[in-house]
Amino acid sequence: MFDQRHTDRASKAYIPAFRQAPENHSWRRGLEPFSKLWFNGRIVAFESAVTSVLTHGLNYGTGVFEGIRGYKTKDGRISVFRNKDHMTRFVESCRMLGLKMQYSVDEMTSAVLQVVKENHVASDLYIRPIAYVGFGGINLDLTRFGVDVAVGGFKFEDYFGGTAKGLKVCTSSWRKISRGSSLPLAKASGNYLNACLAKAEASRNGYDEAIFLDQDDNLCEGTGENLFVASGGKLLTPSLSSPILNGITRDTVIRFCESLGIQVLERDVTRGEAYRADEMFFTGTAAGVVPITEYDGRTIGGGIEGELTAKLRNMYESVVRGESEPYIEWVTFV
Ligand SMILES: Cc1ncc(COP(=O)(O)O)c(C=O)c1O
Repeated sequence: MFDQRHTDRASKAYIPAFRQAPENHSWRRGLEPFSKLWFNGRIVAFESAVTSVLTHGLNYGTGVFEGIRGYKTKDGRISVFRNKDHMTRFVESCRMLGLKMQYSVDEMTSAVLQVVKENHVASDLYIRPIAYVGFGGINLDLTRFGVDVAVGGFKFEDYFGGTAKGLKVCTSSWRKISRGSSLPLAKASGNYLNACLAKAEASRNGYDEAIFLDQDDNLCEGTGENLFVASGGKLLTPSLSSPILNGITRDTVIRFCESLGIQVLERDVTRGEAYRADEMFFTGTAAGVVPITEYDGRTIGGGIEGELTAKLRNMYESVVRGESEPYIEWVTFV
C-alpha cells in the first residue's frame, strides 16, 4: 500500500525523465501532463506520484485503467463526458481481475472531478485513472495484494490528428486476445501488450491503425477503438460476446442510432462485409468518432467520410461539449 514517507524519500532521488526530456522529444510532443494528481485519496505533485521499479503492476501488467475526456466549452468550463460510466467500468474491471479495490464508483467519480478542478486546465484534456498491484514481490497471485490508485491527466486534443480526414487501416497479423486467454471486457493493463504490438506493426507498415480479428476470423476492434461498418443504411458492429471492450463511445453511438431510427446489428462481422461496406468508422474516448476511408488497400465509401459517419460524428462532438440538451445528463461541468 502507498506510504507517503516512502514517496517523500523516493521523490528526492527520483529524476522525472518525462519532465527532463527536450521539448521536441517524442514523449513530449503534444503531451503536457497535469502538475497535480490524485494518489490514494490525496492530491499530490506530479513528481511525488512515484512507484517502485519492483511494482507488481509494472512487472506483470496487473492493473486496470480508464480514459476519460474533458472538453473546453464555449463558456470556458470543462465538460467531463460520462464520468460515472467510466468509473463504473473501472471498478468492474478491478472486480473481474479480483483486485482488492478500496474505492467506490462515487469516490472515483469525485476524484476525477477533483483532478480537473485542481489543475485549472483551460483546454481539452484526457484523464487517466489507474489501479495497480503495488509492491507484491514475485508471487503471481494478484488477489493477495492491495492496489494503489491514481488519477492523472494530460492536455489533449486529437488522437489521430484531425478526425475528418479518414484513416488508412489494415488487418493486424496479431490475433486479438481471446476470452480463454484473458479478460477482453476488462480494461486491464496487461491486455494492452497485444494492442501495442498491433499498433506498432500498423505504423511500421504506414497505416494509421490496425483492426484485430478474433479466433474465428471475425472483425473485432481497433487497438483502442470499437468498430462500426455501414451497409445499406444499417450499422453492423461486433457484439459484446466477441473479445472487445464495451466501449462507452460505442454505447453512445448506439443510443444516437436508436433516437435517429438507424438500425444497429450487434453480431459477427466478416472481412468481406467490411471490404464491400458503404462506410466504416471507429469509436473511442481518445479517437472520438473517426472515419475509415481505406481498409486493407480497398477504398471505403469513395475515400471520403460518409454521410452517416459525419452525422454521428457531429452529434458526438456537440454532445461531449454539453451542447445538446437531450444528452446533458452525460456531462458534468467543472
Ligand atoms: C481495446 C479498446 N476498445 C475500445 C475502446 C473504446 O472504448 P471507449 O469508447 O470507452 O473509450 C478502447 C478505449 O478505451 C479500447 O482500449
